[in-house]
Amino acid sequence: MGVLAIGNVYILQLESSTPYSLVLMTIPKHAIMTCLSVFTMLMAAGVSAQDNQVSKAKPSLVEFDKALKLTPNLENGKKLYRLCVTCHGPEGWGDDNGSYPQIAGQLTGVTIKQLADIRAGNRDNPIMKAFSSRRTLGGPQEIADVAGYIASLPMTDYNGQGSRRYLDMGEEIYSRDCADCHGVDGEGDVKKHVPRIQSQHYSYLERQYQWIRNGRRQNANKEMVEQIQGYTLKDERAVLSYTASLVPPEEDVADPDWRNPDFPNHKRGWRPDPTNHDRSRK
Ligand code: HEC
Ligand code: HEC
Repeated sequence: MGVLAIGNVYILQLESSTPYSLVLMTIPKHAIMTCLSVFTMLMAAGVSAQDNQVSKAKPSLVEFDKALKLTPNLENGKKLYRLCVTCHGPEGWGDDNGSYPQIAGQLTGVTIKQLADIRAGNRDNPIMKAFSSRRTLGGPQEIADVAGYIASLPMTDYNGQGSRRYLDMGEEIYSRDCADCHGVDGEGDVKKHVPRIQSQHYSYLERQYQWIRNGRRQNANKEMVEQIQGYTLKDERAVLSYTASLVPPEEDVADPDWRNPDFPNHKRGWRPDPTNHDRSRK
């Protein structure tokens, strides 16, 4: 595995024989040390090209079905979440530059599905893949446990925002084309495993959306892919800015200075900035 750094962009060369060989990630400067320790952890976990190929040959759909039926053990989920804090943060709020998504409050079934998909190679993220591997995370019960713990974390609505200029236009597109599946307030759909996208960081939404549109994210919902093909760049920015501006119900949201007491001593990366919380429409 080789690493090539160009400014804030790191290119990781994992192996040359798979479509996943080149990964581009923007990593905030403060996270560079984090990343180094992650590499060490990956090495320690013995993550290799072989692991990737084995899991690609055996998609974990069976595990996904099993995990969905299990009752999450939140105490064990908390322990397993230690594997995730480095990148997603102790609060699960990610980073407003979009490198890491807010995963706090995500519907349990959605996290289970995403983990199973990442494991099976249906989402193009080898680093996440290593952390969701059976060897590192465990089987269906462990997937359910960590997903349940993540669902129990309160969210932040101080997420990264898009342009506030086209929010009216975005609202129109959202209610016409997205609300049926993702819910009027972006709350998601438990039964259909449609992700909760309210208060997701704008830059993350943009990346996923583009990967869904151009097929890089292979687990995408086909109807959604068709739906968004005709959008202009302005439509896209408008609808995603509106999505990022949607807020969860008050009871699911924590104060911006809340710290997860389960991880009192963990060094925090990105934190909500209470001076930068403009919700007005321009
Ligand atoms: C080395 C950093 C890193 C670690 C450690 C990590 N993740 Fe991630 N995770 C990411 C990145 C980066 C993404 C975004 C992937 C993309 O852009 O497709 C992600 C995406 C996800 C997603 C998909 C979210 C969505 O909205 O689609 C879930 C769920 C997730 N991670 C859960 C976990 C869990 C659970 C753990 C611990 C077992 C974990 N992650 C550990 C970096 C990490
Ligand atoms: C037919 C139902 C449907 C429609 C319509 C739809 N989506 Fe989706 N969307 C989904 C499903 C299902 C997923 C999860 C796919 C998967 O498992 O990866 C998803 C995933 C996403 C994601 C990635 C979320 C994440 O956490 O990774 C974004 C962003 C998104 N949709 C935005 C939108 C927007 C914006 C619209 C309207 C322009 C829209 N969707 C319309 C069903 C839909």
